[in-house]
Amino acid sequence: MRRIDLLALSEVPDGTLTMAWVDGVEPVLVSNVGGRIRAAQGICSHEYFELDRGFLTGDTVTCALHLSRFDLDMGDPLDPPADLPLAIYDVVVEDGRILIEVPEGPLLVFE
Ligand code: FES
Repeated sequence: MRRIDLLALSEVPDGTLTMAWVDGVEPVLVSNVGGRIRAAQGICSHEYFELDRGFLTGDTVTCALHLSRFDLDMGDPLDPPADLPLAIYDVVVEDGRILIEVPEGPLLVFE
C-alpha cells in the first residue's frame, strides 16, 4: 500500500472539484461536498476528458463533454453514454493534507 499526498485541504473548498496530478502524469479528481473529501480517477471513463472541467452536482460529478453523471462514492455511471465506472480511491485527511491510500503500482483507472 502506498500513501500519496495530493493537495492541501484548503485547496479544495466546500462545493468544488480540483484535479491533483500524481507524479505529474496521473490525474486524480478531488471533491469536497459539505466537508466530505472524496477522490476518483480524473479522466472520464467514456472518452479522454478531464473531470475537473465538469460539474459537481450533489454527490455526483457530471462530465461536461457528454453529460454522463458518476456517483462519487462508488464511481458508478448514472447516465449514458458512459458505461464504465470511475475508479475510487480511499482518502485520508491528515494535518491539513489530502492523501489517498492505494495499492503499489500504477493507479487503477477504468477507460
Ligand atoms: S467523455 Fe465523459 S461522458 Fe463522454
